[in-house]
Amino acid sequence: MIITIDGPAGSGKSTAARKLAARLGIPYLDTGAMYRVVTLAALQDGIDLHDEDALTRTAAKAEFDLDCGPTHVRVRLRGRDVTEEIRSMRVNERTRFIAASPGVRRILVEKQRQLGFRLGSMVTEGRDQGSVAFPDADFKFFVDATPKRRAERRLVELLADGEEVTFEQVLANVDERDRTDSDRDVGPLTVPENAVTIETSNLSIAHVLDRLLAELSKAGVKIPLKGPDRSASQTP
Ligand code: C5P
Repeated sequence: MIITIDGPAGSGKSTAARKLAARLGIPYLDTGAMYRVVTLAALQDGIDLHDEDALTRTAAKAEFDLDCGPTHVRVRLRGRDVTEEIRSMRVNERTRFIAASPGVRRILVEKQRQLGFRLGSMVTEGRDQGSVAFPDADFKFFVDATPKRRAERRLVELLADGEEVTFEQVLANVDERDRTDSDRDVGPLTVPENAVTIETSNLSIAHVLDRLLAELSKAGVKIPLKGPDRSASQTP
């Protein structure tokens, strides 16, 4: 069973996808982390971010690995943990160049499909999972929220990571990423055909998870009873 969750930056799709996967007891794939780690590799190598051949070679070398667990995604590049570094503003601001590269997208989409084939079941999230990587997915969701709400969420995460940023800077970055994600020629951010859209501006993560589970249940998917990950509805 392949479940895709697409949506713009800060829509809440990563947390929702992680919690859904944990609840269903299946793996979770954060494809944004793949684009981020290739960006970091290109920056470390001093590659011109407009050099299509060099970017494609960087993605093809695949010197990274992802450990997408139910409560975390750990990312390593050339043996070093770069989990926090790939979420920095420095990487945020440059990922759009990597995401617009047809060669990089071809390689990463192929890796995502191989993973899906090997694992059989997974929740995968990104921008093009339901439209390009897995157009025949069993279930497709599109998660959205207003730019202001998404920037607020990103700001909380960045401040928690010790970044010195203002709301205005984060909102500008969210707007810029929306524009470039939607306008690019390859794998643009779009609502996939047959996707169920969930507007999360006024929803808590627990409510988003409930909506996802309700849709799956309606379609006949058996939802396992709550396992060890109870964080969505934990009370202090
Ligand atoms: O989801 P996240 O914000 O971590 O993604 C980082 C960037 O990677 C996005 O801004 C987008 O440009 C790119 N991306 C993409 N296709 C995906 C996942 C992410 O282009 N499937």
